Amino acid sequence: MHPPTVDNQSIYAPRSCRLLAVSKLTPQEKLFRLRLEDGRELNHQPGQFVQVSIPGLTEAPISIASSPTCKGYFELGVRKAGLLTGALHQLQPGAQIGIRGPFGRPFQLEALLGKQLLLLAGGCGLAPLRSLIQYCQKQSSAYSAVQILYGARSPQDLLFKDDLEDWQLSTNFNCRYTVDQAPASSCYDGETGLLTRLLADVQVEADNCCAVLVGPPPMYQPVISALHRMGLNGPQQIMLSLERQMRCGVGKCGHCTIDHLYCCSDGPIFWLEEVEHLRGAL
Ligand SMILES: Cc1cc2nc3c(=O)[nH]c(=O)nc-3n(C[C@H](O)[C@H](O)[C@H](O)COP(=O)(O)OP(=O)(O)OC[C@H]3O[C@@H](n4cnc5c(N)ncnc54)[C@H](O)[C@@H]3O)c2cc1C
Ligand code: FES
Repeated sequence: MHPPTVDNQSIYAPRSCRLLAVSKLTPQEKLFRLRLEDGRELNHQPGQFVQVSIPGLTEAPISIASSPTCKGYFELGVRKAGLLTGALHQLQPGAQIGIRGPFGRPFQLEALLGKQLLLLAGGCGLAPLRSLIQYCQKQSSAYSAVQILYGARSPQDLLFKDDLEDWQLSTNFNCRYTVDQAPASSCYDGETGLLTRLLADVQVEADNCCAVLVGPPPMYQPVISALHRMGLNGPQQIMLSLERQMRCGVGKCGHCTIDHLYCCSDGPIFWLEEVEHLRGAL
């Protein structure tokens, strides 16, 4: 029997990638631009992830930070956390790494069509959301409005600063960002406070609005409560991403379970109503 495949590739065998470029995003995060060595496109959808490996080390799931509309490459925004991500941060352009995937349930793009979109990211969550934002930028007429709200801990933790500037200048988007606190010594003169502070003065037509949340777990309950107060109480109005530690990435090992769901294959993107009643999910 043949092993299961994604895009005609075995889901268990890493595919070789060439590192095209590396850029520093913050002191802890770098952006890696990669190309599959077989010349094929990754054929992912926004919200999916790949299992990244370096021969002799482990694997780590990393969200794809670029849109499938970018051809000839894909990008990963990686925080230096431990063994694999630390080794990735040492690599220079030209290096070879392995990836399996793309895996996971993506953002539900069809459900977003014609809607007012509220795209909300906290911290590292801007990496997967960037894939969706770039995708929306390519077909902005498909949405009634797109508002991007992003929160980081401090000015030096802000990811994708060049993109944030572009999105602020873009007529397709309304983009705002905030930092929890800015040290007096920093030259940051933007907004401060939590993401929920930005939400406080957002106006939406609640019935025609869909919110997408990607961020650290502590962000979810306060942001979801704020969205409910704004009137987003119907089914399929709040989509969010959940992270669990993973091994296989393809629904086989049971390492990433949330109750009866596998975060790697039933998620990482869920509708709120699919997970809010599950113990420990949020
Ligand atoms: C679906 C998904 C998408 C992700 N996307 C990104 C991304 O775009 N960019 C990014 O930088 N990181 C992302 N992560 C987190 C990333 O996978 C972990 O930081 C990575 O696995 C750490 O591996 P390591 O070998 O470097 O560290 P290790 O040496 O294995 O561990 C370092 C520390 O990180 C912890 N850790 C491992 N996995 C996770 C996890 N999933 N969540 C929280 N803590 C973890 C370990 O418990 C340990 O304390 C994602 C995780 C998931 C599940
Ligand atoms: S990581 Fe193996 S089942 Fe999800």
